[in-house]
Amino acid sequence: MKTIYLIGFMGSGKSTIGQAYAEKNKKTYIDTDSFIETFHQKRISDIFKESGESTFRAFETEALKRVSAYEVVSTGGGIVENIENLQFMGKSGIIVYLHASFKEISIRLANDQTRPLWNSNIEGKIDLYDRRISLYQNHADYIIDTDQKAVDEIIAEIEEFRE
Ligand code: S3P
Repeated sequence: MKTIYLIGFMGSGKSTIGQAYAEKNKKTYIDTDSFIETFHQKRISDIFKESGESTFRAFETEALKRVSAYEVVSTGGGIVENIENLQFMGKSGIIVYLHASFKEISIRLANDQTRPLWNSNIEGKIDLYDRRISLYQNHADYIIDTDQKAVDEIIAEIEEFRE
């Protein structure tokens, strides 16, 4: 069976849903950010601070290739920034976009200090969100709206199209 790649903005629930879906359906699961942190023995925020975003993006593309043997993969919100990543996911799996509104994301990440790209002013956050939305939408095989939905409901939607 093809790998399920979960994509979406920071705070859209990719890791929570990926892990819960995989556990329930007895699938192997990995998260690209956790893979990067373990592989490079460094926190994502430290990679950004010490080496910059472009180094992180290179690590991310390399990580994606290494995790494609897993059945469920949750990705970092910026995985869509590189067309090579989109092509790779499209060829090796199915891409599921977990959509959450900007309002919902802002509530979920209100106190978050761990995500370097969420650490900007409100205009920067809105710009990033607006630019990413079309990338997620244009490359997804399935789109799931997650606002106001419980984890179980979202998992049930993924199971529906996996049947
Ligand atoms: C990023 C999202 C983060 C992480 C890094 C960059 C982004 O992952 O990969 O901070 O560019 O949107 P999450 O989507 O899991 O927060």
